[in-house]
Amino acid sequence: MADNIPFKLAGVMGMPIYQSRSPIIHNHWIKAHGINGAYGHFPVQPDNVEAAVLGLRALGIAGCNITLPHKLAALPLMDVLSPMAQKMGAINCIVVQADGALHGHNNDGFGYIQSLRDINPNWRADAGPIVIVGAGGAARAVIAALIDEGASDIRLVNRTRATAEKLAEGQTAVVQVHEWHERSEALRGAAMLINATSQGMYGQPPLELDLAPLPVTAMVSDLIYIPLETPLLAQAKARGNTTVNGLGMLINQAIPAFEAWFGVRPRATPELNRLLLATF
Ligand code: ATR
Repeated sequence: MADNIPFKLAGVMGMPIYQSRSPIIHNHWIKAHGINGAYGHFPVQPDNVEAAVLGLRALGIAGCNITLPHKLAALPLMDVLSPMAQKMGAINCIVVQADGALHGHNNDGFGYIQSLRDINPNWRADAGPIVIVGAGGAARAVIAALIDEGASDIRLVNRTRATAEKLAEGQTAVVQVHEWHERSEALRGAAMLINATSQGMYGQPPLELDLAPLPVTAMVSDLIYIPLETPLLAQAKARGNTTVNGLGMLINQAIPAFEAWFGVRPRATPELNRLLLATF
């Protein structure tokens, strides 16, 4: 009887949330794999994070993604944290176990590294200096993933130097903080440039950065995916750099989450890409 087939529910919790493309990704895979389930938007105000997260267990929900602004607030509510979530100090995915225990993960770093390898399968974190602009939560996740991949020379620049210093704390052998006004100079000899600020995002001004000192062999990556091609990426592409937008990170971070909730490892296909591109 249909009533006896377990229905698996998952979703993404955040505020604002309806702009999130995660339901498109997961519902595409749910359909492709013939799974009896659904993935939705969970609009949750900051005051309600605890009730909402603990309610996952009560409702029998398979799990959920956690996005802004709840990535830090949801962490202490977990029964178990993955080593990467611990390192990043934030979670982006909760998996509710059969006994109701809440396991917190952070797949953003995995998604990010995979998105680079999708563009260049030979990409290596130790190929040369990596310049990261920005020192918020996104930069923290990316730095943890890069160090995990063997990065040994990261140059961090942020408008507010103190925030960058705080992020570099305990890992100054790898992460060196450079002055904001010298951010262009920091590009000299770099193998990679990453924008982890909000500059260039839809509705925001472009990141102000003179790329002249950056080798044309360097990869340029922007964590932003709205728009898909930020002014920074357009500028980098025009001078011959390989560019990577933020969409690959979004798709790839969803793979281990889907597998944990629904028991099948899904694939990032050109069809899924087309489906997502049609929403921009
Ligand atoms: P996220 O979690 O997405 O990283 P965040 O924690 O708010 O978001 O971080 C935003 C980043 O964009 C920060 O590095 C921020 O710099 P400050 O630490 O100086 O605030 C950066 N940022 C935001 N607006 C900026 C601007 N106008 N110029 C340069 N950097 C900016």
